[in-house]
Amino acid sequence: MDERESCAVDACGELVEVPLRAGDERPIGIFDSGLGGLTVARSIARALPHESICYIGDTERCPYGVRSEAEVRSFVLQVGSWLTRQDVKVMVIACNTATAAALQLAQQTFDVPVIGVIVPGARAAIHSTRSRKVGVLATELTIRSGAYTRAIQDFDAGVDVFGCAAPEFVELVERELADGVRDGSRWLGGVDVFDTPAIRAIVSERVEPLTHHGIDTVVLGCTHFPLLVGPIRAALGPGVRVVSSAEEITRELAEMLSRREELAAATVPVHHRFATTSADTASFATAGGFVFGQPLGEVEHVAPVVLERTAASLL
Ligand code: DGL
Repeated sequence: MDERESCAVDACGELVEVPLRAGDERPIGIFDSGLGGLTVARSIARALPHESICYIGDTERCPYGVRSEAEVRSFVLQVGSWLTRQDVKVMVIACNTATAAALQLAQQTFDVPVIGVIVPGARAAIHSTRSRKVGVLATELTIRSGAYTRAIQDFDAGVDVFGCAAPEFVELVERELADGVRDGSRWLGGVDVFDTPAIRAIVSERVEPLTHHGIDTVVLGCTHFPLLVGPIRAALGPGVRVVSSAEEITRELAEMLSRREELAAATVPVHHRFATTSADTASFATAGGFVFGQPLGEVEHVAPVVLERTAASLL
């Protein structure tokens, strides 16, 4: 650790020593509207193998991307309240739509730090683009909110941002995941099950407008889209880089926990806990294990009414 990190500035502007905090074994809370956020959880689990995770997917009320902003804001407060009750040390909103609609609200409401996927995704795009023309593929609500445009232009006001809403991609991934659950053998062999001629055709039609305007970087502004990266890359062609926020938010989280001295000690047992609002926990476990890259173990059911009650008692 660098010496300054054990110091703080006092009221007179002088650097003073502050006591170092011990490592923090509490889990990292991760939240998505469903399974897609497991792409973010996977990246976090790989980079921070000593950290425990408490993941909740609001599968019962997915998709968020076609709902009103008010509705998504109330869901974020409910899920955030539940995560607070699980004593998480930080909340990661892995859902782009929820981040666009309610990141600030969650930060103002909860006592722990809350980070979202949009600023890290915007940063990844800024680091990648040379033409300073960036495309964003996301849900309707995320595109409509303008959150990615603002975040990208906060880093570089000279970058042109072109949004492309692709709501049918979420349904496509959900359908493929459900089919895969029904026909488990398709997951075997490590084949890219989402890269089929039929899916390429759907993706290509939607993504086509992003092949104009000199765009050299496209941000996958939706948790589900990294699962379609093969067809998306094929549609955009070799001159366009595809970036997602999963790795970038992992870097940000790791740095934050390290600076706050809240990384878990390597000696403490790691616990990965998964919950869904869907009563079909078995399907969530199968499809989720595919997205997460390893078995989820037993998945808990937390009904939306439980989330509503938790928020009502806490807020
Ligand atoms: N998790 C959402 C997002 O990243 C996609 C799915 C949905 O619409 O709920 O925007």
